[in-house]
Amino acid sequence: MSEHPSYNYNVVRQFAVMTVIWGVLGMLVGVIIASQLAWPALNFDTPWFSFGRLRPLHTNLVIFAFGGCALMATSLYVVQRTSYARLISDSLASFVFWGWQLVMVLAVITLPMGMTSAKEYAELEWPIDILITVVWVAYAVLFFGTIVKRKTSHIYVANWFFGGFILTVAVLHVVNSMAVPVTMGKSYSMYAGTVDAMIQWWYGHNAVGFFLTAGFLGIMYYFIPKQAGRPIYSYRLSIVHFWALIAVYIWAGPHHLHYSALPDWTQSLGMAMSIILLAPSWGGMINGMMTLSGAWDKLRSDPVLKFLVVSLSFYGMATFEGPLMAIKTVNALSHNTDWTIGHVHSGALGWVAMISIGAIYHMIPKLFDKEQMYSVRLINVHFWLATAGTVIYIVAMWANGIFQQGAMWSAYNADGTLTYSFIESVIASHPGYVARAFGGFLFLIGMLVMTYNMFMTIYSKETQKSTATDAIGAAS
Ligand code: HEM
Ligand code: HEM
Repeated sequence: MSEHPSYNYNVVRQFAVMTVIWGVLGMLVGVIIASQLAWPALNFDTPWFSFGRLRPLHTNLVIFAFGGCALMATSLYVVQRTSYARLISDSLASFVFWGWQLVMVLAVITLPMGMTSAKEYAELEWPIDILITVVWVAYAVLFFGTIVKRKTSHIYVANWFFGGFILTVAVLHVVNSMAVPVTMGKSYSMYAGTVDAMIQWWYGHNAVGFFLTAGFLGIMYYFIPKQAGRPIYSYRLSIVHFWALIAVYIWAGPHHLHYSALPDWTQSLGMAMSIILLAPSWGGMINGMMTLSGAWDKLRSDPVLKFLVVSLSFYGMATFEGPLMAIKTVNALSHNTDWTIGHVHSGALGWVAMISIGAIYHMIPKLFDKEQMYSVRLINVHFWLATAGTVIYIVAMWANGIFQQGAMWSAYNADGTLTYSFIESVIASHPGYVARAFGGFLFLIGMLVMTYNMFMTIYSKETQKSTATDAIGAAS
């Protein structure tokens, strides 16, 4: 396979392939835990295979292994192409790749063993946290170093989003992971009580805002214009979008702690900021959608564009639903129910996974010097499996969350007693759990189809006719 003369595509190839492999593994664990909630016997009475231990394994694999590899693959691809510059160091790039894989392998070993700091999305214990910090700093040096040596005067907007994500995640990780180690496998948070909860959800919400959103918006700003062959609808709006999004997101964390011991004004501030967040979120979504002006017909024939555009619709849905759920009275119904899980996965499957899949399909032929993917038909099959899987998943969770849980838990009789017992609500939720496991299964099958298509492309004999266009940067 030929190496591009001026860019380091090797590390992008490695991250791109691992995105798909971690995606399959993370979603497989997702289907397993979804099945355990529908059929508890699948816990098999073993601690390491129990829902409690596999759930954090699922979240770590899908967010940090699948999502992380997708972000690293795309950011290192985009930063080179839009800066007309090779990454500053091949060995540093290699270190970032292998370091990140080591972190994820350690997660696969330690989480089923029950080692956890018990902080959601930050479960890994302190030695792994230190490794994450070292790898992340190396990634930051690699990314920003390449920006510094760029041959263009302008820094393309996608890089602003990637840069914002890299810097903020570094700060969030270091502050939230501060702990007192007791043994190699156990530590206690440096913070206590309400402060600990606030720090955790400042981290947790911004893990959503910067890891699962800002970085993926970077993907949107490069791959949608590229795949549609159109410039961004409004470059000016993209800059406003960037500053507005990062300025508002950072304040919204308290919406995870409504009706808790957190001071009331903090909860209200989090609620207000969450409602304001609708504006930059939709501004960005509309900017992405309108980029298709004049190219809508391409949606009929290009399944990669379908992935990218449908991901934006789910982004729009999740960012409408989020502010709604942040309103205290609505949260009184939605909190602790499957509505939250439905919201999470309309963002996670519909937005994060779909846009990553679209970007990987866009990059694979270019990275491996092929004319196109092995089978466009299979990309189409994947698209429909993913869309159907996501819709079934989230509709099942909305129905469970609103009717079988929120409404049933808060139904009272005339004498003030509860109308339903808790177990009645669990029984009513069962069909929803079965439907969700089925939706997840469809999504997983789609990922397997992608894996096959990807390896058939990589190992096919056909090569690209001309790589001349590779030197042309983003559609900026
Ligand atoms: C085949 C696909 C997937 C299936 C079947 C699946 C299934 C599940 C299940 C059963 C849970 C536990 C829900 C509960 O505790 O009630 C869960 C939680 C979660 N999943 Fe997934 N998942 C999938 C894909 C993904 C992806 C791709 C992402 C992220 C990019 C993701 C992110 C999360 C997060 C963040 C949570 C925790 C939610 C919370 O605590 O509120 N999942 N998933
Ligand atoms: C304007 C944007 C958004 C707002 C205001 C928002 C708001 C919310 C609210 C109010 C909750 C429920 C908190 C609770 O009751 O415990 C929540 C949960 C969650 N949201 Fe969002 N959301 C937004 C966008 C997104 C997106 C795009 C994603 C995914 C990519 C996402 C992922 C999550 C996750 C993972 C949780 C569950 C956290 C947990 O309890 O473990 N959100 N969000």
